[in-house]
Amino acid sequence: MKVQVYKTFTAEEEETWKILFTNLIEERENLIHPYFKIGLEALGVSEAHTPDLAEVNQRLKAKTGWQGVPVEGLEEGDSFYPGLRDQKFPIGNFLRSKDDLAYTPAPDVFHDLYGHIPFLFEPKYAKFCQEYGALASKYLDDPKRLRMYERLFWFTIEFGLIKTEEGPRIFGAGIVSSKSECHYALSDKPEILPFSIEALAYQEFDIDHIQERLFILENEDQLYDCLAEFDEVVKNADDSKEIPAIMKG
Ligand SMILES: [Fe+2]
Repeated sequence: MKVQVYKTFTAEEEETWKILFTNLIEERENLIHPYFKIGLEALGVSEAHTPDLAEVNQRLKAKTGWQGVPVEGLEEGDSFYPGLRDQKFPIGNFLRSKDDLAYTPAPDVFHDLYGHIPFLFEPKYAKFCQEYGALASKYLDDPKRLRMYERLFWFTIEFGLIKTEEGPRIFGAGIVSSKSECHYALSDKPEILPFSIEALAYQEFDIDHIQERLFILENEDQLYDCLAEFDEVVKNADDSKEIPAIMKG
């Protein structure tokens, strides 16, 4: 990882943070799995100011051993997966513009530190991500199989849904940082499929458009317990079957 010094935010960026955070109160209360809010509060992430990364990391490390690491731009697989294995989650070292709060050209502090890091406060989730990183790292020289791991991440950690006693909730960090995606994901618009290792290992996705096909977990353990089976599917992947690179554009 190209580790950087964590950014100092300008007054305008502080204002942007406050707007982004307060815009999502209703979604945090009603649409997102409760782990998320528990993590946010425990890590001291609030509307008051952009997160103090040193403080967040101190609390996170004490609980689950993870750290957020400021990086420049999007991490490539070569450093992303080993980073997860080593309990390091990359954080885009910038904040989106106040002019278009719904758009960020790459994962920024709001996507990464607001969206991802609070989930990593949950010990079982954190352990899953570490094991996921360790397994995916075995395939750095095997692009096809690495893409299957990429799909697992995409349809769970980024865009997963989950059943709870209160009804379906958002489990994916890529959804929680976007108001429109929160409401879209739980509307009747996307196609919602039951979580299936076989299905999502081959499921295509388009990184630049709203996700029209989502997978819903029965419960957390369905995800946490899936890795051994997933790795078997990856190992035994049919070499005649194409797994296209992620679509951009
Ligand atoms: Fe992400």
